[in-house]
Amino acid sequence: MLATMLCWAMSNAKMKNDSIMENVVSLAKRRGFIYQGSEIYGGLAGTWDYGPLGVALKNNIKNLWWKRFVLDREDMYGFDAAILMNQEVWKSSGHVGGFSDPLVECTKCKKRFRADHLDDKTKCPDCGATLGEEKQFNMMFKTRVGATEDESATSYLRPETAQGMFVNFKNVVDSFHPKLPFGLAQIGKAFRNEIAPRDFLFRTREFEQMEIEYFVRPETWTDAFEGLRAEMHAFVGDIGLAPGDVHELEVPDGDRAHYSKRTIDFEFDYPFGRKELYGLAYRTNFDLSAHTGGSKVDISYFDEETKERFVPHVIEPSFGVDRTVLAVLTSAYTEDEMGGEKRVYLRLAKAVAPVKVAVFPLLKNKPELVAKAREIYTTLKKDIGAVLFDDNGNIGKRYRRQDEIGTPVCLTVDFDTLEDDTVTIRDRDTGEQERVAIGDLKSRLMA
Ligand code: GAP
Repeated sequence: MLATMLCWAMSNAKMKNDSIMENVVSLAKRRGFIYQGSEIYGGLAGTWDYGPLGVALKNNIKNLWWKRFVLDREDMYGFDAAILMNQEVWKSSGHVGGFSDPLVECTKCKKRFRADHLDDKTKCPDCGATLGEEKQFNMMFKTRVGATEDESATSYLRPETAQGMFVNFKNVVDSFHPKLPFGLAQIGKAFRNEIAPRDFLFRTREFEQMEIEYFVRPETWTDAFEGLRAEMHAFVGDIGLAPGDVHELEVPDGDRAHYSKRTIDFEFDYPFGRKELYGLAYRTNFDLSAHTGGSKVDISYFDEETKERFVPHVIEPSFGVDRTVLAVLTSAYTEDEMGGEKRVYLRLAKAVAPVKVAVFPLLKNKPELVAKAREIYTTLKKDIGAVLFDDNGNIGKRYRRQDEIGTPVCLTVDFDTLEDDTVTIRDRDTGEQERVAIGDLKSRLMA
């Protein structure tokens, strides 16, 4: 056991370099987690498509988030706003005027770069020619709604899910009469025309966010901030990331977004460096006040007990789904040796693993074994859901295939099963095997 753990620690330490990214991208494609967007047409930069295992992993992450932040709480309301919104929303929020990154263009090869990502802003990193003047590039995707061509038809693909919740604050208050503090929580797509998408799922042009807008009385903001900060760390544990791989960064004055009085970035040790995973921001009453100003609709809150009317302040935990998937995959990717052979496996937490149990008959050409394995598979599938049946190749190959996609347990039906109603279950991380009675499987596997 100790030898396995040491081997794991050493192999993982060794893998913390560039090659881990190549290996993860390649495994993700080979095993049906994530494919390049529009691949057969040469791809579309900054887009990725989730295959069957990727969508299962992603849904597990989203469901854990929804459970912790919505289902398990009394003070949260789920939400799902439209992606397209009235263009005035983005004027009031400040995105039309200021949601931009600094851009420089090479005077010779015409390639464009994000100025704040360059060490030398005067020289093209590709061809060495002189770079032009720095300009601000707005990252919102502009589109038109309806058949009209003029400016009144302009809309944008939302660059964050947050605004859909701010503009519905009054609706939720009118429908549910919630008492402060309370939050709206939403999972959905966001779009940013990033100048330089990079690092696989890390910086993409289409991605998903899980966001909460938590409305508070102004004088209580620090309590809410601290409470949500602790919950964010707890969520990191839910999805199986090591607490030591996630670090808080207090974002200094001048580096924060225009709406924020305090921001903590949660950074993760990706193979390409320590980079932002999540953000926690104190947005004051900036958004509700801005939308009151823009819409001329009073978006304030009346406290029945104190008889006060005021604009609530907001604490916003914001999570990127795709950055989470990348963090989970890169931290789970492991190479070791088992039974004298090299193997690659994903050390995924059971809660996020796309397949929880794989069921095998020992031999494919023995109908009685296949029938028994199918019977167990069908029963487990009803109880557990994410169960897979595999009778291709020899058992060793089946184990390797499941290890590579992070399946925590493999279950084999053999000739003894037909005699004594027991099966072999094998642990992904240690390779250890034990006999378990079929009657105990459900409680054992669902623990
Ligand atoms: N509503 C606040 C907001 O959107 P943000 O820091 O711009 O704040 C929140 O984004 C999170 O969304 C980030 O912490 C990150 O996880 C994710 N995110 C932002 N831009 C992204 C991109 N281009 N690709 C993938 N994820 C991104």
